[in-house]
Amino acid sequence: MTERKQDTVTIIDNSTGREMTLPVVTPVHGPRAFDIRGLYREMGLLSYDPGFMSTASCRSSITFIDGNQGILLYRGYPVEVLAEKSTYLEVAYLLLYGELPTAEELESFKDRIVHHSMIHESVKTFFSGFHHDAHPMAILVGVVGSLSAFYHDSADPHDPVERDLTAHRLIGKIITIAGASYKHSIGEPFVYPNNALSYCGNLLNMLFSVPAEPYQVDPVAERALDMLFILHADHEQNASTSTVRLAGSSDANPYAAVTAGIASLWGPAHGGANEKVLNMLEEIGDESNIQKFIDRAKDRNDPFRLMGFGHRVYKTHDPRAKIIREMCHEVLEKLGHAGDPLFDLALRLEEIALRDEYFLERNLYPNVDFYSGLIYRALGIPTQMFTVMFAIARTVGWLAHWLEMMSEPEHRISRPRQVYVGAERREYVPLEARR
Ligand code: CMC
Repeated sequence: MTERKQDTVTIIDNSTGREMTLPVVTPVHGPRAFDIRGLYREMGLLSYDPGFMSTASCRSSITFIDGNQGILLYRGYPVEVLAEKSTYLEVAYLLLYGELPTAEELESFKDRIVHHSMIHESVKTFFSGFHHDAHPMAILVGVVGSLSAFYHDSADPHDPVERDLTAHRLIGKIITIAGASYKHSIGEPFVYPNNALSYCGNLLNMLFSVPAEPYQVDPVAERALDMLFILHADHEQNASTSTVRLAGSSDANPYAAVTAGIASLWGPAHGGANEKVLNMLEEIGDESNIQKFIDRAKDRNDPFRLMGFGHRVYKTHDPRAKIIREMCHEVLEKLGHAGDPLFDLALRLEEIALRDEYFLERNLYPNVDFYSGLIYRALGIPTQMFTVMFAIARTVGWLAHWLEMMSEPEHRISRPRQVYVGAERREYVPLEARR
């Protein structure tokens, strides 16, 4: 029997001649990683990787992405299969607990989520402190953060029962908080959750119903939202998820850690892009202006980027964007928005960009945010609420990662190192002697 050569990587420090052999961690899918944990201790060396281009920050069993082939798996299941056959709460269960639920498990999970959808009446008073034109993401950051003050006695990150309770509370309450943020911005009364409705039906009801007249949830809108939420539910170690992990790694209050994730998601390079895409399409306005915007995106001296294009991991079509693009045709038609000029403009923009050398050379394809806003718009959701929709869907991903991290025996506080490039040690100069 031939002995299998151990998978290792050897690092040679050419300035000292010292070398070190590092073990390689072999994943189920994806590139191998060499384990540098002993590097500083043994060699006095740090690795330098701004933006984490080549650094795996953790082991995870939740989501896998193959960016070259455009594959996205949640717990091993292709996202397109889940989007077609599953529901958001079923996927939420899968992400949190690793397996698809049985019918009984799903019913009991749904029951727990709906029974956590109400918010404490005192939470409602936070909304009135916000000016009517506050961005709903700013309100979300403030109000979700405030939950840490309401549940401080039952959010022990080391207690598995309280961890679960926190996850269920956040998934239940995030739609109620989102609905209230919108109602506050338009000056309408808050709508309480209704346990008889589905997760997305409940959200639509809290966004659009008014006490003065009956409101019927449109099943097409309900299903479209559910599918969008499935597609946005998790995306492994993206900026907001890594933020939740980093914030939570100090055993911080989990509501506060998730709030940090919301803040990170809001950035236009991340979840904030869906709002920016719509603004960009409106600014382009007409097919005749597309080339001007493409030229601006290519100009190194212009900070403008084509919003909804490009991705750190996908170097081909984002599988979520492909599904949403297909959904657009169907949903816009069913909701009576067929021929939406902004959708035609988006299709044309994609076509022109994907023929351009600049985008081809850099593997810049439409991402999840390019078409999602067009569906939200057709559902009557205002542009400023788009990133809130993303935050609702991603809450389960953040929580799945937080649960995974907190139950990991290797878990310790995350504390990156740095390469210091500032002033050398120097003497203090008294104020009167400074020139
Ligand atoms: N328009 C024009 N040029 C771009 C774009 C774009 N949208 N995206 C990347 N590039 C260029 C970039 O200038 C760079 O060119 P060069 O090599 O000549 O310097 C090259 O492509 C590589 O870009 P990068 O910024 O080094 O790539 P990154 O992995 O750091 O950034 C990104 C990824 C998503 C932040 C970026 O593509 C971007 O800003 N896209 C627009 C915003 C967007 O749509 N964000 C949503 C991302 S998907 C959903 C989510 O994560 O929430």
